[in-house]
Amino acid sequence: MNRTATLTLDVNGASHTLAADPDTPLLYLLRNDLALNGPKFGCGLGECGACTVLLDGMPTRSCVTTARVAQGRAITTLEGLGTRAAPHPVQQAFIDEQAAQCGYCLNGMIMTTKALLDRDPTPALDTIRRELSRNLCRCGTHVEILRAVQRAVQLLAEARDKAHQAALADQRPPEHIAGDRS
Ligand code: FES
Ligand code: FES
Repeated sequence: MNRTATLTLDVNGASHTLAADPDTPLLYLLRNDLALNGPKFGCGLGECGACTVLLDGMPTRSCVTTARVAQGRAITTLEGLGTRAAPHPVQQAFIDEQAAQCGYCLNGMIMTTKALLDRDPTPALDTIRRELSRNLCRCGTHVEILRAVQRAVQLLAEARDKAHQAALADQRPPEHIAGDRS
């Protein structure tokens, strides 16, 4: 029986219409149809975290999430965070700390970190460990990854501070008015 249907997926802020079986794993559509190769195929069983994307901001294993479930929800992949020229602070932190060997787990580590820091900008080390504990790294890069998450906390705080300063500067009256006391 042909179960092909027209599906609309909202990925990284853009709407995509695809013809596919609604029970196709989201990961296959992202990688094979939309050429979004940030999410990786690891175990295919929801166990390793390599395929993690955000669904409405929640880290989700796209290998065991069907297109049917993902429809109508905001899907964010690694490609939706930053670019090579302007990486997201979480991506920059992983670069700064050189937190990779083979790099296969990094998509899951970064997407899970992004969701965590959106929810809790200053997590305790135990919280970071707990949140990342279901993301497997076969290379044993855990120490560098934990350092990268802590660096991401710092970079995001600096970015928030900069934005705050810029907002304050925008509210200040122009100098020729503020300084005119005559
Ligand atoms: S590939 Fe999805 S959890 Fe391993
Ligand atoms: S760096 Fe190789 S799996 Fe984590």
